Amino acid sequence: MAKPKRRYACAACGSVTHRWQGQCADCGEWNTLSEEAQETTFSAKHDLSTGGRTLVFEPLDKPSVPLQRRSTGMAEFDRALGGGLVPGSAVLMGGDPGIGKSTLLLQAAALIAKAGGAVVYISGEEAAGQVRLRADRLGLAGAPIRFAAATSVRDILTSLARMEPPALLVIDSIQTMHSDMIEGAPGTVSQVRASAFELIRYAKENDVALVLVGHVTKDGSIAGPRVLEHMVDVVMSFEGERSHQYRILRGLKNRFGSVDEIGVFAMEGQGLEEVGNPSALFLSGREEAVTGSAVFPAMEGTRPVLVEIQALIVKLASGATPRRAVVGWDSGRLAMLLAVLEARCGLNFSSAEVYLNVASGYRLTDPAADIAVAAALVSALADKPLPSGAVWFGEVSLAGEVRPVAHAGLRLREAAKLGFTEAVVPPENGQSVPGMRQHAAPYLSKLVDRILGGD
Ligand code: TYD
Ligand code: MG
Repeated sequence: MAKPKRRYACAACGSVTHRWQGQCADCGEWNTLSEEAQETTFSAKHDLSTGGRTLVFEPLDKPSVPLQRRSTGMAEFDRALGGGLVPGSAVLMGGDPGIGKSTLLLQAAALIAKAGGAVVYISGEEAAGQVRLRADRLGLAGAPIRFAAATSVRDILTSLARMEPPALLVIDSIQTMHSDMIEGAPGTVSQVRASAFELIRYAKENDVALVLVGHVTKDGSIAGPRVLEHMVDVVMSFEGERSHQYRILRGLKNRFGSVDEIGVFAMEGQGLEEVGNPSALFLSGREEAVTGSAVFPAMEGTRPVLVEIQALIVKLASGATPRRAVVGWDSGRLAMLLAVLEARCGLNFSSAEVYLNVASGYRLTDPAADIAVAAALVSALADKPLPSGAVWFGEVSLAGEVRPVAHAGLRLREAAKLGFTEAVVPPENGQSVPGMRQHAAPYLSKLVDRILGGD
């Protein structure tokens, strides 16, 4: 009989090979392949005369029952989920260690429990004492959560089978769970997949909203949650810089809603506070009239968020290669914008170092930031502060034209609400917003003239 072939699975993407390699051929991650238990392979063909059921095909135009959603008690959490938790669905909550996943879920669990929903919280990472301490600190010790420290999926499912299915089941974290259906240490790809499979099946059969916490690590010995992404209905990512207070909850995949809404929180002494008005948070501590600072009304889903863009230009005396460093924006996009400023507007950055930073550790993906970045760069280069009451938005083409962007009205109204009085906008985007003077900039060169001319 032929020797069974060894199998190696990648912890990052889940692809399988029969030869160990240092780098996964599919996703390119290093040191993520580890040996897995052999899967049985079937070569026989199905006998179709017995055993199978005939499927009933359904039309798709039947009136559908609207989704029942359960509020987490936190508006920002609900918003990021697309309206709340859906019973019988599985949510994977990813994020760096220490970012606040357990805190967020404990808070939501307590609020749901207080509102009358049964909640089971299983921690495979922390002992009951530790979680009790945290609950005390958050002022949630009185919430009727059923808590257990456990890692055996069999124990968890046995206990759940003996009680009414809860409204919410939290598993913190899936990497610590162990299923005795298959071999392998907790955290290996096959264990994570098997444990998740059993828990998700329980959730679907019993209409329970399941939240699985998954750590994201670069270390190949722990299965990244990416192998789970296709098994769950919703994938959320909890992000932020640990050195900054605020955290952003973002949907990466959602079978029940849109993924462009975010939830914003601030990590305080008493846990996570919801931030209903993120602009105020991102603009806090802003000095008036500094050179190289421009305010950009970004869009996050349907919500505008004002952020500050800072540029610093350091002129070099001799021909050393100047640095370009970017935090919070795409460095390729910065290179493009610098090239357009040089080629179309006659500015010279070639002998200067350029540093660009989006304040508060915020990450910008909105292409409408071009104009604000350009304004910050020109202001820094000319050493001229921009008007303190102005916001800037618009996309720049390679020809140096300013292109219109989506949601101009929302951006302008948010800026007006926060006390800004003028806006430099693409010509097509101008519209009447009380208290907001608008200047159309059809070309990037016009914007440069405006800043240099100071009118
Ligand atoms: P935690 O929820 O344990 O993170 P994760 O589960 O994602 O690993 O959060 C840990 C961090 O949050 C920890 O560094 C301390 C901080 N924190 C606060 O600042 N305030 C609080 O009230 C709590 C509970 C935690
Ligand atoms: Mg945790």
